[in-house]
Amino acid sequence: MRVQPRRGSSRDLETAYEKPLVVPEPGDLDVSLHAWADARFATEILAEHAFILAQLFSEQWAPHERTEASRYHRELADLHCQIDSTPPPEPSYLPTFCQNFVRRVQPFCDFKAKVAEKERAGRMTSFAWPLLLDHMRKEGERYVQRLRSIEHGNLLFDRAQVIEFWAPLMDEDARFFAHWLDPDETELVQKTLVSARAWRLLERDTTGETLAAIESDPKGVMEPRY
Ligand SMILES: [Fe+2]
Repeated sequence: MRVQPRRGSSRDLETAYEKPLVVPEPGDLDVSLHAWADARFATEILAEHAFILAQLFSEQWAPHERTEASRYHRELADLHCQIDSTPPPEPSYLPTFCQNFVRRVQPFCDFKAKVAEKERAGRMTSFAWPLLLDHMRKEGERYVQRLRSIEHGNLLFDRAQVIEFWAPLMDEDARFFAHWLDPDETELVQKTLVSARAWRLLERDTTGETLAAIESDPKGVMEPRY
């Protein structure tokens, strides 16, 4: 396994907040290592989703959802610590490891879907847009699918499918940032919207659109920051 920062070697963390990836060595197709690395990464991200949602569900408007999100935060952070502090599963334990991940993560995806539906129906108000809930749910479901695939020995990604899934989500991420910024931060708002446009072009995955994306946001495409 190796520690992979955003760029360069492990000494090159850009800020105290950068989270380096822990990934198998290039070319290592050991399914247990991939299961461990993916589950470790996903539980950390999903625990953050739960934490963010707990902040966006107010005590006054959505007390039940706030409590639920806080509970998911604790559970997923615990699961992350548990995975992080133990070695990758033995081959005989791999199915249980993957199934355990799915069993713990799927209810959180269902929770996000349920809350988004309530918001759309006007039965609940929060600071989490329905698009944010859908976005987080899709990411959670992606990790569930990934661990299910690994359980069955399928490690390889399909390039077209990866782009089709992640490019629109990166576009959404950039637009979320634009809307979270202070409206006075016009330069940063502009930057995030340019980045969102570049991701929409990259989604089409053609040479022409890729060149257009590089032209409109050279730094964002060649040196993505998130
Ligand atoms: Fe995202």
